[in-house]
Amino acid sequence: MRGLRQLARRFLSNVPENTVYGGPKPQSPSQRVTLANLRQKHARGEPISMVTAYDYPSAVHVDQAGIDICLVGDSAAMVVHGHDTTLPVTLDLMLSHCQAVARGATRPLLVGDLPFGSYESSSNQAVDSAVRVLKEGGMDAIKLEGGAPSRISAAGAIVEAGIAVMGHVGLTPQAISVLGGFRPQGKNISSAVKVVETALALQEAGCFSVVLECVPAPVAAAATSALQIPTIGIGAGPFCSGQVLVYHDLLGMLQHPHHAKVTPKFCKQYARVGDVINKALLEYKQEVESKTFPGSSHTPYKIAAKDVDGFLKELQRLGLNDAATAAAEAAANIESASKQSSGSG
Ligand code: KIV
Repeated sequence: MRGLRQLARRFLSNVPENTVYGGPKPQSPSQRVTLANLRQKHARGEPISMVTAYDYPSAVHVDQAGIDICLVGDSAAMVVHGHDTTLPVTLDLMLSHCQAVARGATRPLLVGDLPFGSYESSSNQAVDSAVRVLKEGGMDAIKLEGGAPSRISAAGAIVEAGIAVMGHVGLTPQAISVLGGFRPQGKNISSAVKVVETALALQEAGCFSVVLECVPAPVAAAATSALQIPTIGIGAGPFCSGQVLVYHDLLGMLQHPHHAKVTPKFCKQYARVGDVINKALLEYKQEVESKTFPGSSHTPYKIAAKDVDGFLKELQRLGLNDAATAAAEAAANIESASKQSSGSG
């Protein structure tokens, strides 16, 4: 009997506690990360990883790397659409990014950013936008910026509507108009206290986590210690419960002058993917111009020799003699190139 119970526990030990509908399912490494998983990770003191993604390929990469949270950030405005700020991106555009990411990433918790203009007017507007991000965008949760009383109420209303909310304090890029630019926050006593108080108010409103952007490390450490929910830092030092970086920044994708301008100085580049892309494009251009691409190995579609003869005759019958000559030369050329390459291979 005891053995049976032990066996059952072994099979059921990794079933999320909140599994009610659909019956108990064994949790595989590819199963979606849930809020419960994040809470457990946080309780164990294990750092949470988060990365942005905006399209299907970036989502697949984030998924395959086993990242905990994938954020469809409004940073899309800057790193995908080439704007100087995050302000121009619309809810409809964000939904399109969310849908592509949801198709590519099946494992991480998916968080969609509410863009500027989609939640400031009222809690009703905020709930309506958040519902669209889940219903149409396929996200699991939303993120919103700021900690003014109306934002705290909006966060609370969204949570009441049944949608998990991630807060975002410190540098909130959607507020550059009042912040006077992309400026770090919490650099004096009142600003530092405000960061901690705002994070606490967001927790009180029901947020499951708070992003701390561009604040000094002691301020992030204080907020992390004061909160029961995880903090996710970006430019906030090492004393957060987790870290987030923008996909293009961490991959060093943005070697282009425009992007180099917007890559923040706190970002570590784990690769120089932009250099690889530039080199490949230059090589392609050079091979197109020198007619070395496509060679025989990239010219896969064949026409049988007997059909080439028939084709040439048909062209001549139609009066297309130059076309027939071109086809005959191409057939001879491809034939000799493929003999050469199979000989050299
Ligand atoms: O939009 C975004 O990418 C973000 C992260 C910087 C946290 O909000």
